[in-house]
Amino acid sequence: MPPFPAESPFYYHLGELYCEEVSLATITATVDTPAYVYSRSEILRRARAFVETTAEVTGGMATVCYAVKANANPALLHILVESGLGTDVTSGGELFLALHAGAAPEKIIFSGVGKKSVEMAEALTAGIRAIHVESEMELLAVADVAERLGVVAPVGVRVNPNISAETHPYISTGLHGHKFGVPRERAVSMLREAAASPWLRPVGIAAHIGSQITDLDPFRQAVMFLVQLADDLRSEGIPLEYIDAGGGLGIDYQGTAPGVAEWVRRIGPLVAGAGYQLVVEPGRSIVGPSGALLSRVVYTKTQGAKKFVIVDAGMTDLIRPTLYQAYHPIVPVSGSTRLAEVVDIVGPICETSDFLARDRAIPPAERGDLLAILHAGAYGYAMSSNYNGHLRPVEVLVDGDSFHVIRRRQSYEDLLAGAVE
Ligand code: LLP
Repeated sequence: MPPFPAESPFYYHLGELYCEEVSLATITATVDTPAYVYSRSEILRRARAFVETTAEVTGGMATVCYAVKANANPALLHILVESGLGTDVTSGGELFLALHAGAAPEKIIFSGVGKKSVEMAEALTAGIRAIHVESEMELLAVADVAERLGVVAPVGVRVNPNISAETHPYISTGLHGHKFGVPRERAVSMLREAAASPWLRPVGIAAHIGSQITDLDPFRQAVMFLVQLADDLRSEGIPLEYIDAGGGLGIDYQGTAPGVAEWVRRIGPLVAGAGYQLVVEPGRSIVGPSGALLSRVVYTKTQGAKKFVIVDAGMTDLIRPTLYQAYHPIVPVSGSTRLAEVVDIVGPICETSDFLARDRAIPPAERGDLLAILHAGAYGYAMSSNYNGHLRPVEVLVDGDSFHVIRRRQSYEDLLAGAVE
């Protein structure tokens, strides 16, 4: 097995790890570690794959709404918006970032179970495509806000299809025991209520069954469920404009994962064939494989039966291994032919849960060596924190043979931001 996935923008050249045409050692010599590095061309390639395949299978009746939560770096958002993507936002903060990046309001979907009235007002004022409501109370709240603003709010309902998808339980969302969406019958009555309200206009239905899903069948089932529901509503005089199949397509952290086109071809024709526009909300599958976290070995130590490689990035930079026991490929920046040894790769944070990999075979790493944690472009920086006074890392964008900082490393002064003394 290659040390990292075949389609990665990261590859070895003469024993050195590169991103596009820039060696990662060159980048760290300039910006130090820890550092997130993203490939512009890979992000664009993946974004284009979504835009082109959805357009092809729907005859141009599709909107790809990038899920901002996966990576909200303003420069990356700008690139994605420029390449024709809409956005899926989940808070007033993400709405602000999307608009700041130049996102077209008519391609913004507002998702999430706990939107506050003030956030809804911001969204309606901006003129977004739709607010996706997830409860009866929320529907009333949107109507109230719309009435107060004197506008008609376009709404969708997030339906919980009770479909189980194979993924980590913390990122599975499509079962009735989860907080997300409403069951079918309640979605129907909410859409009837919306149709009857002077302040609401029902425009779509959505389902998002979870994240990092690599089996396409649950997606197909969820979309068929939505199409059936939309057809039933249409026959009672409530025609919807679109079906939103959510995000959730997995990437090949360890095993294999279906490609973007494969996913779109499986679900798109079902929606287009029934006469609805298609909306999708991919996050991870666009930015995940496009980014890596670079970290330097600070020390190594052996304790009991364990060898620890202590690096300068930890759970504060990339919490996925800690939170979901997620696997990220980890490779040396300077390739090594030495025999691998099994180690725990841990960070500087005062928690036993602060690890990037456990019992991982890597070539022997020494103080000062650089490691690249791959597939870290999604839910990496986005979930970072200042716990333990750890500064958030620098973010770098590689573009062909050049690179530039797209967010500077935090400074100690940033730790005082907002403090009132
Ligand atoms: N749409 C909705 C309504 C969502 O809740 C999400 C992700 C997406 C789209 C994008 O899903 P994606 O294509 O990225 O799978 N922090 C976790 C993932 C949480 C996903 C939350 N919702 C992780 O690091 O694995």
